[in-house]
Amino acid sequence: MSKSVKNIGVLTSGGDAPGMNAAIRSVVRTCAYLNIKCTAIYRGYQGMIEGDFKAFNARSVNNIINKGGTILQSARSEEFRSLEGRKKAYEQLTKVGVDAIVVIGGNGSFTGALKFNEEFDFPVMGIPGTIDNDILGTSFTLGFDTAINTVVDAIDKIRDTASSHNRLFFVEVMGRDVGLIALNAGVGAGAEEILIPEQNLGLERLVESLKRSKNSGKSSSIVIVAEGDKTGNNVFELKDYVEKNLPIYDVRVSVLGHMQRGGNPTCFDRVLASRMGVKAVESLLEGRSTEMIGIRDTSLVLVPIADAISGLTQVDQELIRVSDIMTT
Ligand code: F6P
Repeated sequence: MSKSVKNIGVLTSGGDAPGMNAAIRSVVRTCAYLNIKCTAIYRGYQGMIEGDFKAFNARSVNNIINKGGTILQSARSEEFRSLEGRKKAYEQLTKVGVDAIVVIGGNGSFTGALKFNEEFDFPVMGIPGTIDNDILGTSFTLGFDTAINTVVDAIDKIRDTASSHNRLFFVEVMGRDVGLIALNAGVGAGAEEILIPEQNLGLERLVESLKRSKNSGKSSSIVIVAEGDKTGNNVFELKDYVEKNLPIYDVRVSVLGHMQRGGNPTCFDRVLASRMGVKAVESLLEGRSTEMIGIRDTSLVLVPIADAISGLTQVDQELIRVSDIMTT
């Protein structure tokens, strides 16, 4: 292993996700195990610019594996978008002897990390943390499994009242640009319709499908809508349209919002985070850089960050076919 790296910084950036604390814990504990210093960087890149650092040891991350959010907090940083800002960050890190960083975040965070590496030849390693699961090169990002379980639990609760009142509910879920949360949670919760940005089947088809559901004896319906869906302008417009064109239903809307970003991470996310943290530290010590730790099937893989940020994960067509069949 290369001995050049002696003090690894760890930060969380972008939208928080359950599992980020487990990843922080793993990076810190792996550094302790390998007798490498570890420096916590608070508030993402903005904290890096301001020198908001703290030396961490194995005990600094007690009792956080089960907690949502990130103890290092996250922040958007306009200043880090400028070379002057990134230079300030580089000087702050150098001042305290940090000579490599692990960035836990999404596409935007990785883009910043790559730029930082290019300008200062500074070793960076990425751990994918976003509930959207939209990062190329990995089957799962930290937080996605927890988020879809949160959504399924919420929809199960909504279905109780929907079936008690013979109502149709539009449930909006997160996923800025992709419909992976909506599709997986929709199948898992038995939603009658799943609307995702990757396919726009139109309002008329939606009404016809809901009419068939009602005529087939379904007393209530759940339509899960990804926030990026293009069928209507927004979920409230969908409600108005269906109320007008399908008066047989009493329609309501439930926007799940930021609750999907919280909650205790599932075991899957905790184990994934623990594995990725070890791999990130060991890869830096081997002299590797500008890669993201991904998972494919059950094996960890190293993906060039440039590839990871080159596009967005596409939804699985086979799962779309399953969802179509399940709504029979
Ligand atoms: O990227 C994660 C995410 O939760 C998206 O699903 C969502 O659209 C966005 O962040 C919300 O961003 P903010 O927390 O800045 O409102």
